Amino acid sequence: MHATEARGGIESAPGRRRPGVVGRDQEVPLVTGSSRRYINLDDAASAPPLVDVARAVDAFLPWYSSVHRGAGFKSRVSTAAYEGARDALRSFLAARPDDAVIVTRNTTDAANLLASSLPPRARVVAFASEHHANLLAWQRRPVTYLPIPESPGAALAQLDHALRGVGGREALVAVTGASNVTGEIWPVREIAEVAHRHGARVFVDAAQLAPHCPIDMAALDVDYLALSGHKMYAPYGAGALLGRPDWLARGAPFLRGGGAVTFVTLDEVVWADLPDRQEAGSPNVLGAVALGVACRTLAAYGMDALAEDERALQAYARARLAAVPGLELYALWDAACPRVGILTFNLRGYHHSKLAAILSAEYGVGVRHGCFCAHPLLLHLLRVGGDQAGAIRAALRRGEHPPLPGAVRISLGVDTTRADIDYATEALTAIAEDGPRWRYRACADADEYEPTPDTRPWPLLAVALAGDNGRWRGQGAGGETAAGDGARADAADADADAPPDYIKVVPEWRDDGADGRDRGEDAVADRQAAATSSGAVRIVGDEVAGTDVLK
Ligand SMILES: Cc1ncc(COP(=O)(O)O)c(C=O)c1O
Repeated sequence: MHATEARGGIESAPGRRRPGVVGRDQEVPLVTGSSRRYINLDDAASAPPLVDVARAVDAFLPWYSSVHRGAGFKSRVSTAAYEGARDALRSFLAARPDDAVIVTRNTTDAANLLASSLPPRARVVAFASEHHANLLAWQRRPVTYLPIPESPGAALAQLDHALRGVGGREALVAVTGASNVTGEIWPVREIAEVAHRHGARVFVDAAQLAPHCPIDMAALDVDYLALSGHKMYAPYGAGALLGRPDWLARGAPFLRGGGAVTFVTLDEVVWADLPDRQEAGSPNVLGAVALGVACRTLAAYGMDALAEDERALQAYARARLAAVPGLELYALWDAACPRVGILTFNLRGYHHSKLAAILSAEYGVGVRHGCFCAHPLLLHLLRVGGDQAGAIRAALRRGEHPPLPGAVRISLGVDTTRADIDYATEALTAIAEDGPRWRYRACADADEYEPTPDTRPWPLLAVALAGDNGRWRGQGAGGETAAGDGARADAADADADAPPDYIKVVPEWRDDGADGRDRGEDAVADRQAAATSSGAVRIVGDEVAGTDVLK
């Protein structure tokens, strides 16, 4: 049974519960020795599975088998489930009856697939503000990158102007549905109108739109659309590309191999029709099933209702963040623009990576930081000039690790409540006013910070963890615990019936006393010492060298 099954989702209106997610009640350790419920504010990166999705996948597993190629009963059930997922996607996105629905790995895969299917002389037009998936996939062909527009109206005007220059050639406009950095919802319907007026087609990267807003492909008149299951509460490795079949059915497929063919000799291949033609290799049945269930579950709740809930939550989060001293929120367009629940900011005096590390280590809040795979947009928002960008690029090419510009992003999902936002903004206010309570160091080989020491033990899981030296706590032959020697085995052996939740991995304490800390660091050290002497944490190791100067 999944942790949240009994609870169901968040109550959004009397009698209505948003779909619940797995792991909402998960406790995580803090560096100060206690633990607390994880506050997940990172749905835009990868959202947790819906309870309904996880349940459906679990229930489907005994029926799982090969698809399309097996005569066995389970194969037939699996094939029906796989094709059912395609139907669910078509209906969730209101695709036209003749649109192809292709199961991909994710949005990146979908964009690359479409890029490989473009007519030979087709030109692509995209705004520089796109996610890398929708920026780089097209570089196999001539691409026109448009400047980052100052308003939705400017976007339409720029596009209109650019498409006049395409001169009757086949063209594709590639645009995001909602920005993964600023959350703004792009005027997709109007963009499609402009594109079609010039005979161009439109691809919508709906990775951030589809989990939050209703989409009607036919009514929006968009030609292609892509999404990722892991952002749609179905993190089992599938995504989708939907759209006009003609380009996708022309020429050789993106991936060549079994499943994409009807007949092969060494001289010639007869490629299969869509969608098989673009789904070479064994399909991701579980991923597709999960995505189909997510579509059905979200649709049953109502995407309009979900969008309404999130609009209110997003506005609340924006107002609370704006009140944190020294916090700068980034936006492309004015406040009247519709947005999904994505908020990106920096806090004065803090490197983005360090702020994210503090939120995680001391408060149990999960956020994303960095450039969010949208470097040109981040450079624009942070006002990083061409010279500075050039210096960073040159340093990276020399193998150095210069500090990279970036920001911190909070993103909301079906599992987010006002209380989560209150907790995170109060944490940010405490960090802004009082500084961190722990020490952090910059990692030498990456532009990252980490708490030092990091006392948080890994959870005891039946999965292989990196650096675990094969001490796997799965079930071995005869039902014996397969844990090996060392701290993890000790922990596991302590009580075989009720294994502890965490593995204690704590290095030896060494206080060299000459660490060159400034007064701010001493204050942090005092607070850190207070936490440890209270018995909350058993710190037996520290690495002072490399600690950065703290507030
Ligand atoms: C707007 C947008 N487009 C595309 C992608 C790429 O998605 P994926 O990594 O699932 O391919 C992302 C991922 O963050 C995104 O936010």
